[in-house]
Amino acid sequence: MTRALIVDDRQDNLYLLRALLQARGWEVEEAADGAAALEQARRVAPDIVVSDLLMPVMDGYTLLRHWQADEALRGIPFVVYTATYTEPQDERLALDLGAAAFAIKPQEPDHLAALLDGVLANRPAAPAAGPPAAPADEGQLRQYSEVLVRKLEKRTAQLEEANRRLEADLAARREAEQALRKSETDLRLAQARANIGSWELDLAQGTITASDEMRRLIGRGAAAGPLPLAELAAVLHPADRWAVEAGGVWSLREPRAGRQQVRVRHGDGATTWIECRAETEFDAAGTPVRVSGTAQDVTERQFLMERLADSNDQLRALAARMDRLREEESSRLSRELHDELGQALAGLKLDLATLHTRLGAVEPGLAERVRSMQSQIDEMVRTTRDIARRLRPRVLDDLGVLPAIEAQAAEICRRMGARYELVSDVDNEALVEPALATAVFRVVQEALTNIARHAGATRVDIAVQRQSDLLTVEVRDNGKGMADPPAPGRATLGLLGMQERAAAIGGQVTVEGFPGKGTVVTLRVPLPRQMEAV
Ligand SMILES: Nc1ncnc2c1ncn2[C@@H]1O[C@H](COP(=O)(O)OP(=O)(O)OP(=O)(O)O)[C@@H](O)[C@H]1O
Ligand SMILES: [Mg+2]
Repeated sequence: MTRALIVDDRQDNLYLLRALLQARGWEVEEAADGAAALEQARRVAPDIVVSDLLMPVMDGYTLLRHWQADEALRGIPFVVYTATYTEPQDERLALDLGAAAFAIKPQEPDHLAALLDGVLANRPAAPAAGPPAAPADEGQLRQYSEVLVRKLEKRTAQLEEANRRLEADLAARREAEQALRKSETDLRLAQARANIGSWELDLAQGTITASDEMRRLIGRGAAAGPLPLAELAAVLHPADRWAVEAGGVWSLREPRAGRQQVRVRHGDGATTWIECRAETEFDAAGTPVRVSGTAQDVTERQFLMERLADSNDQLRALAARMDRLREEESSRLSRELHDELGQALAGLKLDLATLHTRLGAVEPGLAERVRSMQSQIDEMVRTTRDIARRLRPRVLDDLGVLPAIEAQAAEICRRMGARYELVSDVDNEALVEPALATAVFRVVQEALTNIARHAGATRVDIAVQRQSDLLTVEVRDNGKGMADPPAPGRATLGLLGMQERAAAIGGQVTVEGFPGKGTVVTLRVPLPRQMEAV
């Protein structure tokens, strides 16, 4: 059986070689460097040695020299198998030193096997006897040292190159770290400047990791490390806790970005408003994996919004008061015009009738003048009534809102040549309260005026209905249909007036246009309790 000694400092190389040679039925011995190989070979001589060159303790060239110098070993073929020494000079030196063959790693198993077989077949029949080979001559030593120096230079160059790359890597990493630190600082400054903090919720631990600014916003500037959720809940206004909890529960159920405004109570007794935005990320299985978001101090904005709402309320109250005063004034003027001026004119007309009778036979010319004065007074009475009615229909005060609506609809529809119908399941007496009656009438009046001016309708339907304590008044026309209802707040004066009047009695008006089909104006008002009894 062929005994092979394989020499290599790398375990994986030894393993591969051993596998290859044992598969051929050889017996295999191993050594990890030249010195060990020499010792082993002197104990039990192999039939062939396959050796690496670059090895610690004793390299392959030195082993080869000792091999050749040893009378017992010299005849045993020495095969060099190297991955590092690959140049022609390297091979020449090995062969000059007495190597039987020189192979560069890695070799195909078949090639290597054929090479070893060839070496074994060509080995001298008997070990070369005679004096030990002359120690390596000077030429060979120079050659050897040249190979080593070249190798060293190549290695050094490789190391330098590796070093350069490492340094470049390090510099890039330092730069990246610096950039990271800078962007962290930038982020912190930006958060501080914009009063925006950021946070991330650890779902497993039930803790919140908050940025510096976030900690400041919730009055936990001094605290370090993640905050337990309970601690966060403790700084919230009690009335806002449930909203945060509910928002949290929702955000874990479905992917959606949430936004909430909550109050934070600070140690010094102050309360601030913060607006929190949160976003939940889910994994492919739909399990929430990360909840994170921002928070912003919106105390100032909240304060301004409250002031704006207050001043809106005040303006609305003022407008309602002006309206009431105007209605009262109109009502008074209307009554005076009707009662006093009307009475005076009626008296004047009566006197003129007497005068006309008296003058009739005596002064026919004067009698004619008196007649003309009479008809002028008739005209004045009509005008006065008209003005009085326009100021405020007496029928509203005298008979109530339903007859007033009926009269208004009759007049407007007569003028525009449309039919109308008024249906009501509400008692007129249920709507006597002056503010309610006036508002309902004025809203219907504006709706009717709009129909006359804009709709081109041939039919108008007015329905007054009551469902428990909600009064609904609907004015529907079959005209061209209001194009685009103006957005709330951008309404023109007529629509705005309707809204305001409705708001003054706690109700609201909606306007829906159906192009080509008509428009529906609906007033909804909650009826006061005492009226329900009627
Ligand atoms: N019944 C309707 N059919 C069609 N368009 C309508 C109807 N009612 C209102 N509009 C449209 O809505 C607009 C707003 O109505 P609004 O009553 O606010 O203003 P206006 O009637 O034009 O002026 P005013 O301030 O004198 O009432 C009208 O200009 C008109 O274009
Ligand atoms: Mg109008």
